[in-house]
Amino acid sequence: MQTLRDLPALRAALDAIRSDGNPLALVPTMGALHDGHMALVEEARRHAKHVAVSIFVNPKQFGPNEDLDAYPRREAKDAQMLQAAGVDILWAPSVDVMYPAGFATTVSVSGVSEGLDGAARPGHFDGVATVVIKLLNQVRPDVALFGEKDYQQLAVIRRMVADLDMDLRIVGVPTQRAEDGLALSSRNAYLSEEERREALALPRALGEAKRQMEKGGTVEAAIAKAIAMLAAHGFDPIDYVTLCDAATLEPMTVLDRPARLLGAAKIGRTRLIDNIAVDPA
Ligand code: PAJ
Repeated sequence: MQTLRDLPALRAALDAIRSDGNPLALVPTMGALHDGHMALVEEARRHAKHVAVSIFVNPKQFGPNEDLDAYPRREAKDAQMLQAAGVDILWAPSVDVMYPAGFATTVSVSGVSEGLDGAARPGHFDGVATVVIKLLNQVRPDVALFGEKDYQQLAVIRRMVADLDMDLRIVGVPTQRAEDGLALSSRNAYLSEEERREALALPRALGEAKRQMEKGGTVEAAIAKAIAMLAAHGFDPIDYVTLCDAATLEPMTVLDRPARLLGAAKIGRTRLIDNIAVDPA
């Protein structure tokens, strides 16, 4: 595996790798890799002979009171894991390489970016869209993979790629979970032992609400129950538990088409998100 840190080196390495004519996949990450990220890498290998992974903790997607400085960084261990997984290229630019002096462009996707995490984290999806389009332009992959764990992010990227006629395939990968059901996340490292136990209420509350709605219970009652369960387990604040159209993320009050139930809430200092498919009978 080659680790590249500037654009000329990246371009040279990509030219060499692509000279055999085989497809290239990109898995964008912010590092502190876990089995969720590695599932994307494995899936990438099924789509393309060559795999590139980027590690870049993107300042533009963190709000002023968020965890940019505390965000876990452990590139040496990440590099070992990627090497063992057979990754060809690790693209690990610095902030100055990604955003040189004078950088002035923001990519903003309206609609799908606006509710849910877009409302709770102003500017977050502009930061995500801006860095993802840059990563895609830098690496020019044939396919790029994103996790359903960040379901709204996946929807925003699909919209951007379609709207801007970008010539690549976006593949969504199901959420990887710990044995007890908690979605794997780099931010789980912040949880105390007790918070880790209580955190399980998030997937359980969403799962319970899904069952209730799929059995014919009202959307409103199922969501109210999920919110009560999160509060009882110490989640505060609860940013949202919302049923949305699975593709557009428009809020839904009646389960009449394929939907996604998304939740975000804080336990202690740690903000967790999760989501689950909900399907009409
Ligand atoms: P990061 O949080 O590091 O996640 C990188 C990718 O891994 C994302 O596509 C995310 O959805 C996926 N992922 C994380 N946990 C997962 C899990 N438990 N199961 C499946 N996939 C999981 O998301 C970002 O970084 C950034 O916003 C990024 C897209 C890299 C832009 O900066």
